[in-house]
Amino acid sequence: MFQGMRFLPEQASTVASKVDALFFFLVGVTVFFSTLIFACVIVFALRYRRRSEAERPAAIHGSTLLEIIWSVIPLAIALTIFAWGATLYIHLTRPPQSSIEIFVVARQWMWKFQHPGGQRELNELHIPVGRPVKVTMTSEDVIHSFFVPAFRVKMDVLPGKYTTAWFEAVKPGQYHLFCAEYCGTSHSQMGGWVHVMEPAEYERWLAGDKPGESMAAAGERLYQRLGCQACHLKEGSGRAPSLVGIYGKPVQLATGQKVIADDGYVRESILNPQAKLVTGYPPIMPTFKGLVNEEQLTQLLAYIKSLRLEEKAQAQ
Ligand code: CUA
Repeated sequence: MFQGMRFLPEQASTVASKVDALFFFLVGVTVFFSTLIFACVIVFALRYRRRSEAERPAAIHGSTLLEIIWSVIPLAIALTIFAWGATLYIHLTRPPQSSIEIFVVARQWMWKFQHPGGQRELNELHIPVGRPVKVTMTSEDVIHSFFVPAFRVKMDVLPGKYTTAWFEAVKPGQYHLFCAEYCGTSHSQMGGWVHVMEPAEYERWLAGDKPGESMAAAGERLYQRLGCQACHLKEGSGRAPSLVGIYGKPVQLATGQKVIADDGYVRESILNPQAKLVTGYPPIMPTFKGLVNEEQLTQLLAYIKSLRLEEKAQAQ
């Protein structure tokens, strides 16, 4: 009955052992102090019990040394946990630059994946072993949560904004993907598999999945169809700022603030253009809410990102 049951899932990513080490440290500290406190309660209750009605113990006037000891030791342990946890958290939230970028759209009750080359998958995700993968996720309806236990990765997926997570698989195989946030009737069925493949096998899979057009190419076609290029002239002389090279750069807003043109900013500017106006341009852009779905938004994003590469190429 308990065959195949483990205390923890398999460790299949670079961070798995790090997360587990912290987990075991926390469990160890908790078990140690729980045992110590229970032992003290029992020993003291027996040893210092009242033996007669007339017994009056001597008064205690405190001990500075004792107070220092029981303040400093817990403080040191708490700060260790904080420093360890913070370091790991920062590591978990910063995807390496070389990551493969996958876009994820969650909805009741499925996971949709888009690869940069245009390949799409449903409830299955193919990735190579030994390469970091960054997932940028959003939801079409309610809150979901992307959870791959073997990678020790769990991140909420929210409607109306992007969240990210990253992982690097260390062994080929199939790993369960779950939705870890109750999201309605079929929440328990909202899962799938992450297929971790050897690099050569992964290349074959990419080539065999008739990619059609890349995300950036699909985004460019959409960009033309929606008429974005009519105002966003590449040279910057149009009625709207040029989008060449803006991705990842700071943008000066009319309010005097500066923001980084990241995924969230681009998304907001398409759906709610008046929210963060670029300085020097009139508030004339209409909203594209309802005209583009989540997948198309990620394609537009991929296209705008590719304009950054174009700019780099021109500079060389
Ligand atoms: Cu989606 Cu639970």
